[in-house]
Amino acid sequence: MLISDKLTKGMNDQVGRELGASSQYLQLASYFARDNLRELAAFFFRQADEEREHAVKFVHYLVDTGGKVAIPQVMAAQDVASAEAGVQAALDGELKVTEQINDLSAIAAEDQDYAALRFLGWFSEEQVEEISTMTELLSVVRRAGDQLLLVEEYLSRRGEPHA
Ligand SMILES: [Fe+2]
Ligand SMILES: [Fe+2]
Repeated sequence: MLISDKLTKGMNDQVGRELGASSQYLQLASYFARDNLRELAAFFFRQADEEREHAVKFVHYLVDTGGKVAIPQVMAAQDVASAEAGVQAALDGELKVTEQINDLSAIAAEDQDYAALRFLGWFSEEQVEEISTMTELLSVVRRAGDQLLLVEEYLSRRGEPHA
């Protein structure tokens, strides 16, 4: 086995959290879709797909290193009160995930598990991008206020967030 029990447990927990983030983004996407805000909906449907891909990446890593995969219970999505509250919650969630990735990296460092550190490094860089994207979106949503069509305009001009 190329991975410690402690890191295996941490990565399994992370699988659950990535899946939870995916659910939360689906919730947010459907909130916007219901209001016919197609760009915002598409943005969060894409985010939901990405979070699921993150979960799958951890699963593959565990399989490759001989860690036992044990997918935990996934948190239910929270109701979305408003566009701003939803995007704020998304940003808060991404900040939390960044800490969790750092915690996993700390375990990998303790284990002198350099492969895991490199693997987790990809996630650290991904978090920088996600926090930057979400911070920008939050500021645009705040400035738009009730005029969410302005956010639609902004997103359609901006194109793919991860292009
Ligand atoms: Fe993620
Ligand atoms: Fe994310």
